[in-house]
Amino acid sequence: MIIAIDGPAAAGKGTLARRLAAHFGLNYLDTGALYRAVGWAVVRAKGDPADPVAAEAAARALDPAGLSSPDLRTETAGQAASKVAAIPAVRAALLEFQRAYATRAPGAVLDGRDIGTVVCPAAEVKLFITASVECRAARRLKELLDKGESAIGERVLEEMRERDARDRARSVAPLVPAADAVVLDTTELNAEAAFAKAVAIISERRPAG
Ligand code: DC
Repeated sequence: MIIAIDGPAAAGKGTLARRLAAHFGLNYLDTGALYRAVGWAVVRAKGDPADPVAAEAAARALDPAGLSSPDLRTETAGQAASKVAAIPAVRAALLEFQRAYATRAPGAVLDGRDIGTVVCPAAEVKLFITASVECRAARRLKELLDKGESAIGERVLEEMRERDARDRARSVAPLVPAADAVVLDTTELNAEAAFAKAVAIISERRPAG
């Protein structure tokens, strides 16, 4: 079984996807980490993440072994990821890895922006996890402060809006719910309630056996 989880930044996709994978005994791939790793590699080499040549080279050289590095969780890596993600050659370079991962037994939960629309259009279950931009910015701010980083609420909100706009407006694989996705708005839901709703939706839709 493949479960596709898409949605904007900080909607709670990652936490939810990881829990769902454990619950249903599936592999889990955070596809945002792939784009973050590419963006971060370009920034570290003092390049411009919006430069198609540098970004494609970084995507082709990507080593999946480094995907859990804490460097990838920073706002700088997130913004760089959103820039490299708008480059078609970068998306093409990362597509095969994601598809191969998804189809490996026993199946997988993948979270990202285009899983239900492009990477796994035949996924058995598609969820689109969203929340208001103010709520997502507040969650991101709390996450940063909990990590001991200094952050200003207004700046986090502004960056969230910028990233949303870039992810939604790009011409290749923009952030949109697949036609057959179930939309789950977590603005008023905590992680526990979102998980319970998602389990109910998946249990209803997944193939018998
Ligand atoms: O989910 P995240 O914040 O880690 O993703 C970082 C960026 O990567 C996001 O702004 C857009 C991009 N991304 C994408 O374009 N497609 C995906 N499947 C996953 C992430």
